[in-house]
Amino acid sequence: SKSTAGLCHFHATSKPPPLSFVFDIDGVLIRGPHVLPTAKRALKYLEGDNPFQKKIPYILLTNGGGIGEHERCDKLGAKLGFPIKPTQFCQAHTILKKFAPKYADKPVLVLGGERDVVKKVARSYGYQKALTTLDVLAWNPSVWPFHRLSEAERAVTESIDFSKTPIAAVFVYHDPRNWALDVQVTCDVLQSGGVIGGPYISSRGRTPPVELVFCNPDLIWRSDFDRPRIGQGAFKVAFQSVYRALTGSEYPHVQYGKPTQATYEFAEELLNLHLHDLYGAPNQFKPYMVGDNPESDIAGANAAKWSSLLVKTGVYEPANGPPAYKPTMIVEDVEEAVRWAVEQEL
Ligand code: G3P
Ligand code: MG
Repeated sequence: SKSTAGLCHFHATSKPPPLSFVFDIDGVLIRGPHVLPTAKRALKYLEGDNPFQKKIPYILLTNGGGIGEHERCDKLGAKLGFPIKPTQFCQAHTILKKFAPKYADKPVLVLGGERDVVKKVARSYGYQKALTTLDVLAWNPSVWPFHRLSEAERAVTESIDFSKTPIAAVFVYHDPRNWALDVQVTCDVLQSGGVIGGPYISSRGRTPPVELVFCNPDLIWRSDFDRPRIGQGAFKVAFQSVYRALTGSEYPHVQYGKPTQATYEFAEELLNLHLHDLYGAPNQFKPYMVGDNPESDIAGANAAKWSSLLVKTGVYEPANGPPAYKPTMIVEDVEEAVRWAVEQEL
């Protein structure tokens, strides 16, 4: 329809269909670099080829990350065959945009992803002094004697004197590539109250001076290998085990990502904005979550009072017994999921 402003509002005058979806990505839409054929059929169905004869809204909610939202949406859209807008996309660290003002001009350490990609993402969120463990090695190679910076790594470091740069927080954005280096530097930061190489201070019994934030609790996830891969949740287990061995206790931390309530509330706000964008109306109903990991996708959706559909194309394998969290329905794949959900609303 054309409004007086001449702007084309897609469906602005028609009623939204009586349902919407939140899709997990790994193990539902893709497996590693490969798009699942069922995903293309499911999105074609939602884009209009369905009994409502109109676009059924959906957003993507992943514990993945490591690159910027715009870049990931461009890559996903090209693979899936339908445009994915950043307004319908939430990855593990998207929620961190909310907390940027608190750290705008404070040095923070960001872990995960390739070289300085995540540092650039953090700075685009407003963390102007985001730094990496490669920056630490460039300052003092003896921090971790077992990794020599490659030319490509050195090229993306900056010269910082960390003895004079107290780190205010450590954010684990995505899966660290060098667990040993990242565990060592994170232990240095947290044991010395933010000053790498500084005297150890005990944070027992008081609010820890340096905040530690993880963005994805997944112990495992499904890529294109025949068995699930260990994820950022496994790095957290490794880090906390080393920190406990060194200090006698784990370090207090904040956890975001599926299944946390904060992430599901953030995703529901995003979905409502997307619905408003498409139909000029917010959500009157809870969405259908389609996921492959009972511990993250189904657990989080159930707690958020969404409907939850568990597919067999990812982490969950029926041969291993019933899922730890009971979904509304177990389906073969994402196409069966969307067709089943639409049938419930006809
Ligand atoms: O690193 C990605 C993995 O932990 C899970 O991704 O899309 O299944 O939430 P996803
Ligand atoms: Mg998944």
